[in-house]
Amino acid sequence: MFGARCLLRALRRCSSAPCPKHPQAVRLSVREAQEAQEAAADVKVQGWVRSVRSHKEVLFLHINDGSSFESLQVVGDPSLEKRDLTFGSAVEVQGKLVKSLHRKQNVELKAENIRVVGPCDNLAFPFKPRERQPLEYYRQFPHLRCRTNTLNALLRVRSEATAAIHSFFKDNGYVHIHTPIITSNDCEGAGELFQLRTSNKVSEPGENPHFFDVPAFLTVSGQLHLEVMAGAFTHVFTFGPTFRAEKSQSRRHLAEFYMVEAEISFTESLQDIIQVIEDLFKTATSIVLSKCPHDVELFHKYVSPAQKGRLEQMLKNKFIIISYTEAVEILKQAPETFTFQPEWGSDLQTEHEKYLVKHCGEVPVFVINYPYNLKPFYMRDNEDGPQRTVAAVDLLVPGIGELCGGSLREERRDFLQSRLERLGLTHAYHWYLDLRQFGSTPHGGFGMGFERYLQCILGVDNIKDVIPFPRFPHSCLL
Ligand code: 4AD
Ligand code: MG
Repeated sequence: MFGARCLLRALRRCSSAPCPKHPQAVRLSVREAQEAQEAAADVKVQGWVRSVRSHKEVLFLHINDGSSFESLQVVGDPSLEKRDLTFGSAVEVQGKLVKSLHRKQNVELKAENIRVVGPCDNLAFPFKPRERQPLEYYRQFPHLRCRTNTLNALLRVRSEATAAIHSFFKDNGYVHIHTPIITSNDCEGAGELFQLRTSNKVSEPGENPHFFDVPAFLTVSGQLHLEVMAGAFTHVFTFGPTFRAEKSQSRRHLAEFYMVEAEISFTESLQDIIQVIEDLFKTATSIVLSKCPHDVELFHKYVSPAQKGRLEQMLKNKFIIISYTEAVEILKQAPETFTFQPEWGSDLQTEHEKYLVKHCGEVPVFVINYPYNLKPFYMRDNEDGPQRTVAAVDLLVPGIGELCGGSLREERRDFLQSRLERLGLTHAYHWYLDLRQFGSTPHGGFGMGFERYLQCILGVDNIKDVIPFPRFPHSCLL
């Protein structure tokens, strides 16, 4: 029979939603059916048709419900075939699970009844059976692309990666914090904020026009709120949507993206932060590879054939650490000509990041200690002379460039106060200064762009193809 837990789950579901025609039929997902160890009578599987083949003697159907990479094979009498049983239609099949003779599958579903729940207009449907299109093609159909094998696999990987990241932090003693989406601060100070306004007029003449009495924005990062929590919990993380009104149309920027952020108290060393980033990357990736190998393989086989080897190298090797100053020296000595001349004090451009990764043997590289004037107010001053730096770290990965950004935070109240004063931010960040007055600890953390992480493990060139509904300048479909 089925595994006891799986059967119990299926029975429980069935009792809440019995099939009117077959009240006893146990509803199974495609995955549950595939994992069944033995034959079983009167089961019901629902899903979407991936292929139909009708022979004189037998009807073959493959159906998928998103629970598994492999579709479930259904066999039946050709008399069960109906005109609207076509590729893309939604069906419910009732029958017996029997041992399959096919070596690729343990069981198949011998259909006794097939009901077409929702026919699919095949002439207008933009996808065809067994046809693989480039990701750009699927991108034109944000409301339908999840029905293709490729996006179906991507979304399962995304789901497993989310769970893997949560389990990494949970296993390492981190408390998950829901940081707010609406905020009154600009953590990164880069002025890339989306400001909020109500759709209806809320204020009468003379009344404050702001719903919250102050200007409010969609968050660019949960870091400052995590820092609040790091005053009571030594290890915290958040994983949610973040928003940036960057005009960039690049292959690695979105206006809405998910960020994984962690904050650690009682740490005085950037090395501690670096270690967490490397462990997170390697542990989460190993979990994803073990949980959905076929989904990942689809990308490594058809989307980015070189990625499998690259990822193995990333997992096998220790990540490299270089300072920003060393990075600039490497770039200056590079035989290549860059569009932007590398110079101490200027930000590293994508072309520089790519060169540095290549120079280091296509292994992820941590670049540490960036110029003081390049980075936001909260980063810890290294007090290291005329070429003054802060204790910042960026992780650069092959094919993408920057994947993570983090730092030690300036825990010294007087240093922070004078920096905020110089920037005219004392009033807005008085609460942030307060944190340094009441049981402050040296602390630090980082943020990892979740979509860039998915691009990196799967080898997907454009960030718009690893998020269900991409938002970018001039486009907010659906
Ligand atoms: O380097 P960033 O701006 O760092 C922060 O926001 C810190 N406050 C995080 C922290 O220390 N808690 O962003 C972190 C990462 C980047 O390295 C990049 O991977 C991703 O977020 N990212 C984007 N991803 C997609 N689209 C964009 N527009 C992104 N901007 C940043
Ligand atoms: Mg950054």
